[in-house]
Amino acid sequence: MKHFLDIHKTDKAALRSIIDSARTMKIARNGRPRAAPDDNPPLAGRMVALIFEKPSTRTRVSFDVGVRQMGGETMVLSGQDMQLGHGETIADTARVLSRYVDLIMIRTFDESVLEEMSEYASVPVINGLTDRSHPCQIMADVMTFEEHRGPIAGKKVVWCGDGNNVCTSFLHAAGQFGFDLTFSGPVQLDPEMEAVGWARNAGSTVTIERDAMTAVQDADLVVTDTWVSMHDAQSSRERRHNMLRPYQVNARLMEAARPDALFMHCLPAHREEEVTSEVMDGPNSVIWDEAENRLHAQKAIMRWCLGV
Ligand code: CP
Ligand code: NVA
Repeated sequence: MKHFLDIHKTDKAALRSIIDSARTMKIARNGRPRAAPDDNPPLAGRMVALIFEKPSTRTRVSFDVGVRQMGGETMVLSGQDMQLGHGETIADTARVLSRYVDLIMIRTFDESVLEEMSEYASVPVINGLTDRSHPCQIMADVMTFEEHRGPIAGKKVVWCGDGNNVCTSFLHAAGQFGFDLTFSGPVQLDPEMEAVGWARNAGSTVTIERDAMTAVQDADLVVTDTWVSMHDAQSSRERRHNMLRPYQVNARLMEAARPDALFMHCLPAHREEEVTSEVMDGPNSVIWDEAENRLHAQKAIMRWCLGV
């Protein structure tokens, strides 16, 4: 069973083949109407369940459009509308869904939900974000970097801000794709040390630098994300903002990076908080390509999972 649960749990060669396949499919679409199917649509006759226990714009729309372009069908399910949100176990839900659909994508809170779903499903399961990681996003990010700047191996990526789920997936990707990652944020919001250790063991240089201006020296890519993630809804917004303000990505910070340094953000962004509009809309920002590439990367992930 080929689940796509996390970047560090997926074979390096498979990750590379997914990026290559995403690129090939993106080129092959070559300006076709959005709803026109791909040639020999690989998901013809397949049904995909998209389960959301948290809000989503990009993940929801890009998976849905991607499945349709590949000739398959989707059903978008909200956790609360399912029995899952009212006491039915994840294991039982997984067993039942596996009798109806060919693939399950789930966005949820605790990673254990994803793990249980994948353990009991007899169809592939894809991680559409948990409190801990967001692997589909980082596949799109690697694809985007390489489209603009060539191989990411050996490059310096700087993460500014909260060491959150997206940051964890960047650490996993650093190990798998061979780039170096510098984290710059307050000590209270350090990234998961297990992921730091994993990336280092995989050969990546991971640095923690509290001063953002120092961190971005020689950066090839500067990345940030919201200061208050969906799973942080209960924590104090004001406290987090106070801690994170020194890590805002603004023009002054970008000027301290390499002149050709790219800027990325998984979106949704909070303009003038973690990043200024000047940077988001500036010449080094590739955020719209990054968002578009969710579509192509996820199409490739689904094909890999299904072996089609
Ligand atoms: N980046 C991302 O996953 O966006 P959504 O929350 O809109 O899906
Ligand atoms: N870190 C953010 C990413 C949203 C796509 C969150 O989990 O809310």
